[in-house]
Amino acid sequence: MKAPALAHHHHLLSATRIPRTNLRPRTATPTSTIRMSLQENAPSLAVVGVTGAVGQEFLSVLSDRGFPYRSIKMLASKRSAGKHLTFEDNDYVIEELTADSFDGIDIALFSAGGSISKQFGPIAVDRGSIVVDNSSAFRMDENVPLVIPEVNPDAMKHIKLGSGKGALIANPNCSTIICLMAATPLHRCAKVVRMVVSTYQAASGAGAAAMEELELQTREVLEGKQPTCKIFKQQYAFNLFSHNAPVLPNGYNEEEMKLVKETRKIWNDMNVKVTATCIRVPVMRAHAESVNLQFENPLDEDKARDILKNAPGVVVIDERPSNNFPTPLEVSNKDDVAVGRIRRDVSQDGNFGLDIFVCGDQIRKGAALNAIQIAEMLL
Ligand SMILES: NC(=O)c1ccc[n+]([C@@H]2O[C@H](COP(=O)([O-])OP(=O)(O)OC[C@H]3O[C@@H](n4cnc5c(N)ncnc54)[C@H](OP(=O)(O)O)[C@@H]3O)[C@@H](O)[C@H]2O)c1
Repeated sequence: MKAPALAHHHHLLSATRIPRTNLRPRTATPTSTIRMSLQENAPSLAVVGVTGAVGQEFLSVLSDRGFPYRSIKMLASKRSAGKHLTFEDNDYVIEELTADSFDGIDIALFSAGGSISKQFGPIAVDRGSIVVDNSSAFRMDENVPLVIPEVNPDAMKHIKLGSGKGALIANPNCSTIICLMAATPLHRCAKVVRMVVSTYQAASGAGAAAMEELELQTREVLEGKQPTCKIFKQQYAFNLFSHNAPVLPNGYNEEEMKLVKETRKIWNDMNVKVTATCIRVPVMRAHAESVNLQFENPLDEDKARDILKNAPGVVVIDERPSNNFPTPLEVSNKDDVAVGRIRRDVSQDGNFGLDIFVCGDQIRKGAALNAIQIAEMLL
């Protein structure tokens, strides 16, 4: 059975697991354009975890950017095998991920969790595929580049499509990507010596099922019912809590330590001091982060604002008189990371400190878009 076609959609799962919010058309998407990304001399793709929040966004981003492909294999678990999905007016049957899934695949986009990446990433590489992995499985592996295209594209310049050699490239954690999109242009100018990050993270960061849980709980609470807690062990609607990632012996949770370690690797600076507190807030989609920066060289707030206005992939929303600053809603389904609240840190002498507030869609720039920008650099 073919999935019903929505006027603005290039793809729609016949399964109903994905909340509607994830399927809402982006206003920026031109609806009249006929996409011609299917090309015989283009790479063959595989999307691993295609039914998930990130997997669905991979398809949207591929389509929006007209990414060229010869074929696409849609892969998920046994649970989804046999279901149909429509992508760019073609009908696809979702296949179960197996060791044989990667024969003849040039680029494999992985977003099915760390254990799936650990198991099947190396198999795909053996078959000659270039794997762009969204999980944390290989991020800190010193042989695997950890790439934000606007920040450290050179880290993957030795990896070439069509060489017959497979390779792994890791997509950083969503909070790291969003933070570094804003912090890196300032770092290049004045060198960050210390960074303090506090996050306000959305449900979408925990996948499609977490988004459904937030919606369901919100209804339940408004109806005076006991909220259903399946994904998170405590009430999420009308509440907030410390990020659900496991807490480590040093008291930090894994999400916080990802910000610490990944920043050092991406900036290739083992001395940069980073600390973080990561919080889950009842926002459907898009993370917000308060970032305090301490610099080696002076940088005043006007210059910082100019630098950020000219930074690729960044927009500045910083209107003090009207109290208009970035919000998660405003950046949802958008490519750019928004920065505002750009101000001198009054706790530091001179112009050696800045506070900024950053919002970014972490399914898009924090995951699928960043991965597809990586894949574009291979073309
Ligand atoms: N959400 C984010 O913002 C975000 C950001 C960066 C990175 N990531 C990472 O991306 C990955 C997926 O996240 P998500 O948010 O998209 O999760 P999700 O919505 O829960 O989707 C998980 C996907 O993995 C598939 N899967 C699960 N078990 C599988 C198996 N045994 N074999 C093959 N496929 C399997 C699922 O397929 P079925 O539908 O068949 O179960 C589904 O397509 C995770 O590693 C996550 O850390 C997520």
